[in-house]
Amino acid sequence: MAQENTEPPTPPSPIETLDIEAVLAKLSTSEKVDLLAGIDFWHTKAIPKHGIPSLRFTDGPNGVRGTRFFNGVPAACLPCGTALGATWNVPLLQEAGTLMGKETIAKGAHVILGPTVNMQRSPLGGRGFESFSEDPVLAGSSAAAIVNGIQETGVVASIKHFIANDQEHQRMAVDSIITERALREIYLLPFQIAVRDSKPGSFMSSYNKLGGTHVSENPRILDDILRKEWGWEGLIMSDWYGTYSTSEAMNAGLDLEMPGPSRWRGQLVNHALMANKISKQTLDARVREVLRLVSRVAKTGVPGNAPEGSRDTPETSALLRKIGGESIVLLKNDNKALPLDKSKTVAVIGPNAKIAAYCGGGSATLLPYYATTPFDGIAAKASETKYSVGCYSHVLLPLLGQNLKTADGKVGVTFKAFTDPVEVSDREPVDVIHLADTYMYLVDYYHPKLTEDLYWTEVEGFFTPDEDGDFEFGLTVHGTGKLFLDDELLIDNETVQRSGGSFFNVGTVEEVGVKNLKAGQTYKIKVEYASGVTSKLSDSDGVVSFGGGGIRIGGAKVIDPTEEIEKAVALAKSVDQVVICAGLNKDWEQEGHDREHMDLPGRTNDLISAVADANPNTVVVIQSGCPVRMPWADKVSSLAQAWYGGNETGNAIADVLFGDVNPSGKLPLSFPVRNEDNPAFLNYRSSHGRVLYGEDIYVGYRFYEATLKATQFPFGHGLSYTTFRLSELAVTNDGTNLTVQVLVENTGDRDGSEVVQVYIAQRAPCVKRPLKELKGFTKENIAAGQSKVVTVTIETKYATSYWDEERDTWVSEKDTYDVLVGTTSAETPLKASFEIEESKWWRGL
Ligand code: BGC
Repeated sequence: MAQENTEPPTPPSPIETLDIEAVLAKLSTSEKVDLLAGIDFWHTKAIPKHGIPSLRFTDGPNGVRGTRFFNGVPAACLPCGTALGATWNVPLLQEAGTLMGKETIAKGAHVILGPTVNMQRSPLGGRGFESFSEDPVLAGSSAAAIVNGIQETGVVASIKHFIANDQEHQRMAVDSIITERALREIYLLPFQIAVRDSKPGSFMSSYNKLGGTHVSENPRILDDILRKEWGWEGLIMSDWYGTYSTSEAMNAGLDLEMPGPSRWRGQLVNHALMANKISKQTLDARVREVLRLVSRVAKTGVPGNAPEGSRDTPETSALLRKIGGESIVLLKNDNKALPLDKSKTVAVIGPNAKIAAYCGGGSATLLPYYATTPFDGIAAKASETKYSVGCYSHVLLPLLGQNLKTADGKVGVTFKAFTDPVEVSDREPVDVIHLADTYMYLVDYYHPKLTEDLYWTEVEGFFTPDEDGDFEFGLTVHGTGKLFLDDELLIDNETVQRSGGSFFNVGTVEEVGVKNLKAGQTYKIKVEYASGVTSKLSDSDGVVSFGGGGIRIGGAKVIDPTEEIEKAVALAKSVDQVVICAGLNKDWEQEGHDREHMDLPGRTNDLISAVADANPNTVVVIQSGCPVRMPWADKVSSLAQAWYGGNETGNAIADVLFGDVNPSGKLPLSFPVRNEDNPAFLNYRSSHGRVLYGEDIYVGYRFYEATLKATQFPFGHGLSYTTFRLSELAVTNDGTNLTVQVLVENTGDRDGSEVVQVYIAQRAPCVKRPLKELKGFTKENIAAGQSKVVTVTIETKYATSYWDEERDTWVSEKDTYDVLVGTTSAETPLKASFEIEESKWWRGL
């Protein structure tokens, strides 16, 4: 963002551990104040004379984008949060975290903004894909594993968004109304577990209010609970533009305002000090955390303002493929259509077949080193692979970039930036860039000659269709723009603008134009654009405008939906096996807005039904971060959930489909039949500025089990190509730890991994409690025909306690507790019990 870069970068200098109190004593008040806010989108202030470098932050949570949304340096994209949660594999997630740490170092950064540990209250959450699970123990254990992996490299993890940012609707303005019990048992618990098991060096406060006070200025949350009760030490930063006050935020414990330049600190802090609204001790306490963060990241060896690089290695690909494969959940395989036979013909059908849906949308997005499509993954293994699109499923037309060429023959477009509008006939570009794609989020676009918020760009590429027919083009902007085809105006997204969900909800809808084109003929596509400040859209509540601007150019051949389904059916009939690749993508699930419904897009349901009728060996692979409705579930015999799988999306899917990887993923969240069934249905979204968490502690399976409501697929469900038998449950409680042991036998003929899930149920609690709650789990790989004794150790107080609202503490009540063990929440055949002899109330970790 041109206007945000007010300071020239300081040259790279190595970071050294600071003598914090000595440095603090030397800093002047204005130097201290300077340290308390970013200087731009991703950097903190350097004060070289005191050995303080500029720290760099980069987004997570499923990869490390570096400092540029626009024209970023390519990175490793890991599977999305729900996919990582679906592995139920703590050591593997730690490896994933280590990879993130190494990628952060390659990007010259010190802090990764992740993991995301919010809750999927509803299947519709725009960022539900970023978080791990609806269950606090699975979410907390996954988060701790990732943080441990990241911090092993010296990089600090900034766990987010603390707390109760569980929807996108009016995310800055909404007041989350939650009982203390639900707050403790569901929403805070994953963060508490992460603090206990991994000590994240930083927390990011959330945008929303909690009980009437914004979290970034909420002393009860930031100071009483996080710092005092949990004894956590580290730096708290605001979410981007999520600081809303000077004194309140600093007094509550918010150390760093991000991004910069500051809106709430600088001179305002001096004024507040003068008026004694902030004490010198508070100022020092905030600065001390910034200095501690500098010391903490010294071991990365990354100097301030380091260049950004990549580390695209075969080891990275192998790890991404392993994680991707382990995340896939085999939901059904009734007629054993899976694994597929490599020697037989296979048709790959569906809107997600030839796109790599590798990531959800928003700040989690990054430019991957590469991304494999399901079609490519399958074609690499099958003897003969055929394809038919079947239907479209996009919200916005597919990005056109990969189908365009620049004047000098490169794949993509030429982007030119100007300080004058198009009417100035002799204007010269100040910047010319080649871009491989046509999504341009200009929030952090920086060029020294673009010193004003207002600037202009021109984007040009050449399109040569390989079929005759009508083609639809789309232009979406934050700013204003027009698309020309061979210099003829096709789309005007300037004169009249309509608000849409694009660019974190500040951009327009996609305006479209259709043109009949001839195969083999080359057409020039040009977009004339003016930056974000020219937007004619008015601001709406709770929307975060990061400035800059955005351009997105899409396009696709116009199809007749009924004809395409007929073509897909004919193809399905002509082959031995069929794979349907359907689902959502980053336009459906993205930061800035929640989904409106749980349905698959367009004609997808019709396509799946028709193809499943045409060929009994039809396998459906759904890619989405959160559950979708599956009205055809009963008629499809084989079904897998493949999330957004990162760079190796297509290969990981193919590995599972052909049995090169034996599936072992388990659902980290319940899949309801319909959106109306989910516990947050009545209360999701902001209503006059507040959202009531009316389902209380009954989130996910806790609700479906208590209300006997059938799910499409239950929490913890996931099949394998082999079979397992659990027996010989033994439970011991030594007062501190509960040790659960069980014999697991692989009774099938393939090696495989199984997740042992340990649920606890209190027999006669003083308050209502869920029928059972996950308290521990482990995943074990067991060779065909072999068996293993598997151990799960759980701290007894964590296994038994609920939040006692009367005493405002956790309580582990005197009672009998059942230990229920199984491989899905729906079936826990093994049962034992233990006693708590005396009630105990406790706080802290
Ligand atoms: C998101 C954060 C993200 C930040 C920087 C915010 O909109 O909520 O998760 O880290 O932007 O991109």
